[in-house]
Amino acid sequence: MSTVAFVTGASSGFGRGLALRLAARGFAVSLAARRVERLEEVAEEVRAAGGRPLVCPCDVAERPQVLEAVARTRDELGPVDLLFANAGVDWPTYPDELDGREVAAMLAVNFLGAVYATEAVLPSMLERDSGRISVVGSLAGYGGLPSTAAYGASKAAVDAFFESLRIDLRETGVQVTIVTPGYVRTEMTEENPFPMPFLMELEPAVDRIEKAIFRGGRRVGFPFPLWIQTFLGQILPRWLYDILASGQDRDRRPDGGHR
Ligand SMILES: NC(=O)c1ccc[n+]([C@@H]2O[C@H](COP(=O)([O-])OP(=O)(O)OC[C@H]3O[C@@H](n4cnc5c(N)ncnc54)[C@H](OP(=O)(O)O)[C@@H]3O)[C@@H](O)[C@H]2O)c1
Repeated sequence: MSTVAFVTGASSGFGRGLALRLAARGFAVSLAARRVERLEEVAEEVRAAGGRPLVCPCDVAERPQVLEAVARTRDELGPVDLLFANAGVDWPTYPDELDGREVAAMLAVNFLGAVYATEAVLPSMLERDSGRISVVGSLAGYGGLPSTAAYGASKAAVDAFFESLRIDLRETGVQVTIVTPGYVRTEMTEENPFPMPFLMELEPAVDRIEKAIFRGGRRVGFPFPLWIQTFLGQILPRWLYDILASGQDRDRRPDGGHR
């Protein structure tokens, strides 16, 4: 029986990219996202790459849907050996338009979606003392950035949660890999009107993710220049960090100027 992967956000970007890599490695791949037609297209590509696809439409913000999708995967393909918890959304947060419901919605997809998928696959991984969990955070989760309060908070939550989980699972055969990308060219970034420093193409980014997962890496961040800049930013005095970070243009409003 082939090894089984459950990939969230499989209809585009990193999710589609990694699903195809997993297919080439002979995985049966369960493809989860909301857009069914896009999942069907990716399923065709998975089949062509040598993998066995299962289209599993679900909204990762809805816990019952995620549990049901993983149960279906187990029934039709077998227990999940590899989870790529990747589904995510990004929209800006402006202080003069702050709406807690939008923050909750972002946390539900970016953070809780990954938690629900992990909840669904972990018992069977622990039973078998084997499994790989990989979750997508962001360099934006390391520190505050203009107009990014909700997105940054959702990714900081991913980081803290999965780092703790990785430590708790240290003595088991279940590995946790946290992926923290900077700017990568996908549907998520294609309409950003602001400059994206060190913007990376998708395939080299998927290379980094695939290598990190299969070498058992704890954390992978890229592109290197933005990763090092982000890392150094965290050891600066906060008055200096505020000045440098506020110089970054991340505004998406046509009338300009975050307030
Ligand atoms: N691209 C970057 O520069 C960058 C940088 C840092 C981190 N990231 C993270 O990388 C991950 C993948 O993003 P991407 O860049 O590959 O963007 P993308 O091409 O827009 O992919 C996002 C994926 O998430 C899925 N998704 C969104 N909301 C969902 C929901 N409620 N339920 C199920 N699936 C949902 C989308 O599918 P449907 O719309 O079909 O549901 C899509 O497949 C995200 O977590 C993102 O935050 C990206």
